Amino acid sequence: MKETVIVLGGGIIGLSCALELQRRGHQAIVLETGRCGGQASGAAAGMLAPYSENVEGPDEFFQLCRESLALYPSWQHAVREVSGASFEYTESGSLYVASHAADLLVLEGRLLWQREHGSSGRLVEGEELRRLEPMLSPTIQAALYTPEESHVYAPDFVKALEAGCRKLGVQIHEQLEQLTSSVIGGEVVVTAASGAVFSGSLLLVCSGAWAQELEEALDVRLPIYPIRGQICAYEMEPGEPVRHMVFGPQGYLVAKANGTLVCGASEDVAGFDTTVTERGIERLRKWNKQLFPHLAERMPFHRWAGLRPATQDGLPLIGRVPGRERVILAAGHYRNGILLSPATAMLAADIIEGKGYAAFKQAFEPGRFGAPVLR
Ligand code: FAD
Ligand code: GLY
Repeated sequence: MKETVIVLGGGIIGLSCALELQRRGHQAIVLETGRCGGQASGAAAGMLAPYSENVEGPDEFFQLCRESLALYPSWQHAVREVSGASFEYTESGSLYVASHAADLLVLEGRLLWQREHGSSGRLVEGEELRRLEPMLSPTIQAALYTPEESHVYAPDFVKALEAGCRKLGVQIHEQLEQLTSSVIGGEVVVTAASGAVFSGSLLLVCSGAWAQELEEALDVRLPIYPIRGQICAYEMEPGEPVRHMVFGPQGYLVAKANGTLVCGASEDVAGFDTTVTERGIERLRKWNKQLFPHLAERMPFHRWAGLRPATQDGLPLIGRVPGRERVILAAGHYRNGILLSPATAMLAADIIEGKGYAAFKQAFEPGRFGAPVLR
C-alpha cells in the first residue's frame, strides 16, 4: 500500500527516510521548523567510524552502525545519482592513537572483538605509523589502524540529500512555526502557525534533539536530550598531510578534500544553546597540538557547534509508537547520525511497509521507556 508520510525534521535522518520512502513509491512530505541540515546534521564531522566510535563492545548500537557502514558505498552512490550533486566521500581509514603503554593495552583488547566483527584492523607503530601519518607527534607510540572507516563532508552530503529528495518529488516545507499534529479520522493532520495544513496517512518523527517535545502528545516517554558538540577547523598548508581520521580519547581530527582539518568535539550539557566558548575550543587546541605539533601556533579559522540527540540508554528510538499506530519515530542518533542514516532509512521504510527486520533492532523500539513521567 502506498502511504503519504509526513516527516517532521529535515536533518540527515528525516531527509534519508524521505528519500528512501520516495524511492519505494511512497509520497514523503518533509516539514522543517528551520532550514534543512541547519542543526546537528550540518555541523557534523561526517565520520563513518563504527569501530573508533564504539569502544565498549559489539552491542546493538554497534551492529546497526556496522550495517550502516556497509550500506554507505551504494547509498552515497544513489544520492549522487539522483541529486546530480557532488560531495566528498573518502575511504581514508582511521588511526586510534595510544600515547602510553596502558592505552595500547586498551587498543589490543578492542582489536580482539572488532576483528571478529568485520574489522581488518591492526596495531601499527614505529616506521609504519610514521609512514601512514607523517605529521603525527613522535610521542605517539602506536595506533589501532582500521582501514574500513571513511567519511563524508556532511554539509554537502545533506544538501545533496535534499536536492535528491526534491528531484524525486518529495515535498519540502521549511521555516514552519509551531507545528501541531493530530490524528483525525484515520488521517494525520499537521498544522503550522501560518495556517498551512498538511495531511497524510502516517507521521514519521525525525526531529533529532527536539523529539522530546512530543512526549505528552504521543503519551510515551522520550528521553532524548541535546548534547552540544563544539568543533573547529584549521586551514591545511601544502606539505602537511593528515591522511587518516585520527582518534584519541579526547577527540578526533579529519582532513577534508577542501583543504581544511576538522577537529572535534566537546560534549557539553548546555540545553539548546549552540554558543561556541573560548574554553571549549582551547581544550580542543590543547589536545590537537599534542597529536600534531605543527598545529601548535595555529588558530582555527572556523568554529561552530551542534546539538547531538542523546538518549538515556545510548540507543536511538526507531519504530512505531505504542498505541499510536500511525506514528513512527526515528530520532536519538547521538554521535553517529551521519553514519546511521542509511540503516535508519531502510529500517523506517521497512517498518512502514510492515516488513520484518533483524531481531536485534527490537532494542530500538520507542516504547521501551514506558509512559511519560508526570511533572
Ligand atoms: P538534526 O540534524 O538536528 O535534524 C533535526 C531537524 O528537526 C532540525 O533541522 C530541526 O530544525 C528540526 N525540528 C526540530 N523540531 C521540529 C519540529 N517540531 N517539527 C519539524 N522539524 C523540527 N555523526 C556521525 O555519524 N559522524 C560524525 O562525524 C559526527 N560528528 C558530529 C560532530 C558534531 C560537532 C555534532 C554536533 C554531531 C556529530 N554527529 C556525527 C552526530 C550527528 O550530527 C547527529 O547524530 C545527526 O545529525 C542527527 O540527525 P537528525 O536528523 O536526527 O537531527
Ligand atoms: N561523532 C563525532 C561527534 O559526535 O563529535
